[in-house]
Amino acid sequence: MSTPTPHIGAKAGEIAKTVLMPGDPLRAKFIAETFLEDVVQFNSVRNMFGYTGTYRGKRISVMGGGMGMPSIGIYSYELFNFYGVDNIIRIGTAGSMNENVKVRDVVIALGASTNSNYAAQYCLPGTFAPIASFDLASAAAAVAKEKNINAVVGNILSSDTFYCADQTATEKWISMGILAVEMEAAALYMNAAQAKKSALCLLTISDSLITGESLSAEERQLSFTDMMEIALEIAE
Ligand code: HPA
Repeated sequence: MSTPTPHIGAKAGEIAKTVLMPGDPLRAKFIAETFLEDVVQFNSVRNMFGYTGTYRGKRISVMGGGMGMPSIGIYSYELFNFYGVDNIIRIGTAGSMNENVKVRDVVIALGASTNSNYAAQYCLPGTFAPIASFDLASAAAAVAKEKNINAVVGNILSSDTFYCADQTATEKWISMGILAVEMEAAALYMNAAQAKKSALCLLTISDSLITGESLSAEERQLSFTDMMEIALEIAE
């Protein structure tokens, strides 16, 4: 397909090789304005704002991906397959499902288990394991260690539902050692696998399904900065 695509108004070459992808397009705007220099906006279709700029001389893009796997599925597919993007780093929030994963912690999503049917499109003769790029995940773990950021590495749940009718679902995922729940990483990892590209999902724990604790807006901002430092450092 040629560019622009149905969902991204950018021309070829306007998007960097690495894209940071928060769910919220206004978060993308904030990141571009706060952390990047020489910023140019490349998308406003459906208000899913996207920007390209530089961070310490590195060319980086940042674009919203929306909520849920159908949404990030569309944007990451078009970026990988039509805009030549090599790396997508999702930066989001998640609910903790593990007593050792506290609010404000950063989670590096090594694997993304899911209750979604996204993988059905590949007609595989078994179950696919959506995983992060090893290079991006190990780089993120190294940066977290160097900067004394409390980061936990492991398996997360990408859920199709925020409000789940099955009240027993959470404890079943907990029994399999799932660290936290969000709603996008599995589709991102599957699109990266199919396109032979790289993806990583970094998460800030905003609330806990175990303790019921949740972050205030101010605390969110603080821990969001930890995750951003990691993402900007590993972007190339
Ligand atoms: N569920 C799904 N996604 C989330 C949650 C949650 O509890 N918290 C932050 N993102």
